[in-house]
Amino acid sequence: MAKDIQPAQAEQARQEEYSALVRTVLISHFDPREPLAFVHTYGCQGNVADSERIKGMLGEMGYGFTDNIGDADLVLYNTCAIREHAEDRVFGNVGALKNLKKAKPSLKIALCGCMMQQQHVAQRIQKSYPFVDLVFGTHVIHRLPELMYRTLCGGSRVFEIPSEDGKIVENVPVRRDSDFKAWLPIMYGCNNFCSYCIVPYVRGRERSRDPEIIIKEAEELAAQGYKEITLLGQNVNSYGKGLDCDINFAKLLRRLNDIDGDFQIRFMTSHPKDCTFELLDAMAECGKAAKHLHLPVQSGNDRVLKEMNRHYDREKYLELIHYAREKMPDLSITSDIIVGFPGETYEEFCDTLSLVEEVEYTSLFTFIYSPREGTKAAKMPDPVTREEKGAWFKELCQLQESIAGRRTAAMKGKVYRVLCESISDKGMLSGRTEGNVIIEFPGSPDNIGKFVNVKVTEPRTWMLFGEEVK
Ligand code: 5AD
Ligand code: SF4
Repeated sequence: MAKDIQPAQAEQARQEEYSALVRTVLISHFDPREPLAFVHTYGCQGNVADSERIKGMLGEMGYGFTDNIGDADLVLYNTCAIREHAEDRVFGNVGALKNLKKAKPSLKIALCGCMMQQQHVAQRIQKSYPFVDLVFGTHVIHRLPELMYRTLCGGSRVFEIPSEDGKIVENVPVRRDSDFKAWLPIMYGCNNFCSYCIVPYVRGRERSRDPEIIIKEAEELAAQGYKEITLLGQNVNSYGKGLDCDINFAKLLRRLNDIDGDFQIRFMTSHPKDCTFELLDAMAECGKAAKHLHLPVQSGNDRVLKEMNRHYDREKYLELIHYAREKMPDLSITSDIIVGFPGETYEEFCDTLSLVEEVEYTSLFTFIYSPREGTKAAKMPDPVTREEKGAWFKELCQLQESIAGRRTAAMKGKVYRVLCESISDKGMLSGRTEGNVIIEFPGSPDNIGKFVNVKVTEPRTWMLFGEEVK
């Protein structure tokens, strides 16, 4: 490891120099006004965490931030490639920037994230979107100061999309979106190559952050008064593999739980193939670990799971669920499911329905299969029509709706500890229970960012209404 630390530090110093140069350039262009950046994030929490680092670096370079795209001097989209629909939205929104640039030729437009890491997408941007100034991939985010310098001063468009896995560069400045909820990446990349998934191709191989650095970051967050820390990784259960110290995810969770402070720990995403009883025991025993497990199953049918390259079967998945519920009777479980994987039959899909019925999830993220260029599944025969898949999807959603309704109804009259997140114009506070169910109740804005106890008075299917109890 020591071998890698030195180049990473040298790289960081280089970027700090570029950051200072950009600052000077921006002052000469904009003084006395502050240049403004509009940063928009598509996709998962991993992207949100990356954007917080991007904003941290832009802040050091001298940018302020705006939510009004019309006021921006820099528009940056951090994109997602997980499904076709996500990519279509980005292309549509990038296309719409053409007129903005026409009206304000000094505007700089930058694109980054998973979508840009794909060669065919970068080529399309190069050819058909000439008003885009900067495109960079997922492995060079920490080099943004250098890339911005080249964009502002180089006189030509910048495309920087190396395919090698990024070394983890620490100490990148972070500008967090919230002052009470924090995203804490513990690892990057994915090694699993689920046959439908683009992530391993655009995020590179799995690499874990040093546990001491993670713990230090969590200690700082707790000391700053953060109330929720969400540990992020594509497969947090395999955290620590490849590090030369005695650590795994269960041990990391226990160490984080020992940090002083009144905060809760969430984590995502867990892969069932690496989810161990050791982790479930740790979760049960760690007072700060929210009793919510997001454990994507994707399908309830063994043949489909095998074709998906998931490395577990229905029996092993259900064994984990039963063990988890035995250890944590109030555990809230959520999942991701793909409907209409290539070659899936209706009978096989019915196995997903029966699994959903058996597990009784709190909620589900359901997706119709979307072919991704370059993945194994994209080459598989896919005879079922979009309409049929749509009907299956609806059947699954209706089933989950009835389960969710049953589950929330059973919460009536019970008291939950809730982290208050926002307040509506009508004075209703909104927060989440430990199990990640949204609850709304009348209250004071002073409670935003605090834990309060709330009694459920009126359960709805997907959320709850309640009242604060002292
Ligand atoms: N099509 C549909 N859903 C997908 N997911 C990942 N790749 C695809 C795809 N090609 C879903 C999986 C994953 C979630 C983040 O997105 O369910 O768990
Ligand atoms: Fe994609 Fe599978 Fe990796 Fe999750 S574990 S990011 S679904 S390849």
